[in-house]
Amino acid sequence: MALVKINKDITKGIFEKVAEEAEKRKEVTILGIESSCDETAAAVVVNGRKVLSNVIYSQVPVHTLYGGVVPEIASRAHVEKINQVIRKALEDSGKTMDDIDAVAVTYGPGLVGPLLVGVNAAKALAYAEKKPLVAVNHIEGHISANYIDKEELVPPFMCLVASGGHSHIVRVDDYGKYTIIGRTHDDAAGEAFDKVARAIGLGYPGGPKVDALAKEGDPHAIDFPRAKVGESSYDFSFSGLKSAVLNYLNGCEMKGIEVNKADVAASFQQAVIDVLTEHTVKAAKEYDCSRLALAGGVAANSGLREAMKQAAEKEGISFYMPELIYCTDNAAMIASAGYYEYLAGNRADISLNAIPNLKVGERRW
Ligand code: KG4
Ligand code: ZN
Repeated sequence: MALVKINKDITKGIFEKVAEEAEKRKEVTILGIESSCDETAAAVVVNGRKVLSNVIYSQVPVHTLYGGVVPEIASRAHVEKINQVIRKALEDSGKTMDDIDAVAVTYGPGLVGPLLVGVNAAKALAYAEKKPLVAVNHIEGHISANYIDKEELVPPFMCLVASGGHSHIVRVDDYGKYTIIGRTHDDAAGEAFDKVARAIGLGYPGGPKVDALAKEGDPHAIDFPRAKVGESSYDFSFSGLKSAVLNYLNGCEMKGIEVNKADVAASFQQAVIDVLTEHTVKAAKEYDCSRLALAGGVAANSGLREAMKQAAEKEGISFYMPELIYCTDNAAMIASAGYYEYLAGNRADISLNAIPNLKVGERRW
């Protein structure tokens, strides 16, 4: 089957086309499906902003036993749950497949086995129900989580996306149009949280556990490095910080000093927050963005949310962040991103495949 890609009117910006299309069709209901890592999720969202249902089956308890996500186990768990999760999302929304305008699914980036489960479920459903299929980039989904319940947020805006696999500063130029301003040179921010959590014996998933423990510690107790990559760069590096934490822990062990884990958690977290906040606000200012948003699993971090809000306010920049449930992996964000892809005329078909290394702004279907 030939790929259908309708987006040929280059005389108009995507924003204008989206607005025109949205005007023509008052209500567009999208079923979103997400399975890129260890959450099996489905959601029904109207016009990209109003969530009718948001079902998430988390595999965390399964992977906790192994201290991290085991791809093969994740794939199998997705296969077991995906149909139930989709059915529940439709039930909770009070809609049936007849009411759904399109099926949107994450096709990358992520783990190939888990991605394939969602992609195949979406293809089967779209084909059987004769509905358009929309392919969504997971990271763009995280960014779009900011649209949920916020009618006032429109592009352009600057967005920090920090998750377990990615850390980027992205300028959202328009719906579905992105420019990467900065990125990590090594570990993602969430990955650093997970590794440090493991080193201080907190287990998986690390981010929320470090966040909770940091509240009991002193963020200035240990002076961990704030790595800079280049002079005027917006890029990050977290592997040096992670090594500094490991060296500190080894040093304490060798000297027989008892480690104050809460101080380590708080000081490490503060170092991450300082770098992310400074670079993102600087990017917003220098690129003249009056709006700034936060996205990805690390956007659930209480310290980062507060620091970013304060830093943006100080500069007179409007600040947005998703509700906690829309920060970590979910399908409402996929349905939201899918809505704008749908309005732009982007359609995938039965040949859609999983693209584990898909980049922000890339279209590979
Ligand atoms: O976006 P996400 O759910 O999955 C990926 O796309 O990777 O992000 C998961 C990451 C994990 O590394 C997790 O430790 C981190 O987000 N995370 C947090 C918090 N909640 C989740 N990191 C810091 N503080 C949190 N509260
Ligand atoms: Zn994610």
